[in-house]
Amino acid sequence: MAGEVAGPGVASAEAAGGGVAAGNAGRDRVHVITHLPGDGVGPEVTEVARVCVDAVAAQRGFGVEWRGCQLGGRHYLTTGEVLPDPALAELRQSDAILLGAVGTPEVPPGVLERGLLLRLRFELDLYVNLRPSKLRPGIGGAVGKHGFDDLDLVIVRENTEGLYAGAGGTVHRGTEFETSTEESLNTWAGIRRCVRYASQLAATRSGRLTLVHKTNVLTHAGDLWYRVAREVAAEDGVELSYAHVDAACLWMVDDPKRFDVIVTDNLFGDILSDLGAALTGGLGYAPSGNINPDRTVPSIFEPVHGSAPDIAGKGLANPAGAVLSAALMLDHLGESAAAADLESAVNGILATGAPASTGEWEKALLTRLADGGRLG
Ligand code: IPM
Ligand code: MN
Repeated sequence: MAGEVAGPGVASAEAAGGGVAAGNAGRDRVHVITHLPGDGVGPEVTEVARVCVDAVAAQRGFGVEWRGCQLGGRHYLTTGEVLPDPALAELRQSDAILLGAVGTPEVPPGVLERGLLLRLRFELDLYVNLRPSKLRPGIGGAVGKHGFDDLDLVIVRENTEGLYAGAGGTVHRGTEFETSTEESLNTWAGIRRCVRYASQLAATRSGRLTLVHKTNVLTHAGDLWYRVAREVAAEDGVELSYAHVDAACLWMVDDPKRFDVIVTDNLFGDILSDLGAALTGGLGYAPSGNINPDRTVPSIFEPVHGSAPDIAGKGLANPAGAVLSAALMLDHLGESAAAADLESAVNGILATGAPASTGEWEKALLTRLADGGRLG
């Protein structure tokens, strides 16, 4: 069982009374991964992902040293702590972070979102939010007319700026003139590094990159995004197209093969990636990576879904989004063969019908992984 650490900080899995550190002896590659299970279904789904990572690590010959971290809604309610500085310092020491979901109904909106999730993204400078939407066998998807090859796109969402940066405020609070502003911050350097990641990703796929924005109305930020995207795409030799965000929603549903890699700002990316999830089986199948491509800090990998308190503890949570997030994590850590093993195990299971419970998912995943993908 993961994350049995009592305190908020990061402790080695051995210190937590479990772990696999001893099994890493003699391995030439050992990745230090912090498991931050969080609340609700977070612990259930990431536990399955963790077991699957251990299985592929054993097969592919690398080691994983797990550490636990208990931050989240429960921790906040019992201690008042959201992200203490020492915990952040410890999180920085790992190679990657596997996050479940944070949030409980008792915690007011914004406390954990801003104080934990966004603060981690900002402090660790995780400026890319990578969100693949891929139609998989057996899923059906929300639009029956699409084949698998028609819907296989990746949203690269800028993750540290835009309307999420926290600029703005409220004046004349409590009067009829109460006024609130929320400002979208867009820097040349911030856009450029995000578009660079997206265009290099596009170069490894179809060579096609689409900028999604709303340049006809948001003329200031839109113009900067457009100019930077044109420059970067030209430098990287990828073909750039452009879509307004409203049209992009329509085309994602109606004609998704227009898109391969989409690059967009923070809020548009948040919204479009939920649409992408809905089109590809729902949030249960949607993975994400909060990535700093420089690898100077740990990147955070998490399923797009939330803590789903209504089904927590019932064994009903779908761990596929967490397992696919773990695949993105392994890919980021340079273990691309192990990442492909996880993805093809999920796809192979779906092709024969999605399991109904978390436990059945785990059993099916381990069976397929043990078989080295031959069942896939
Ligand atoms: C997501 C979530 C978060 C976001 C919230 C919880 C801060 O919706 O990861 O998509 O908007 O980034
Ligand atoms: Mn979201």
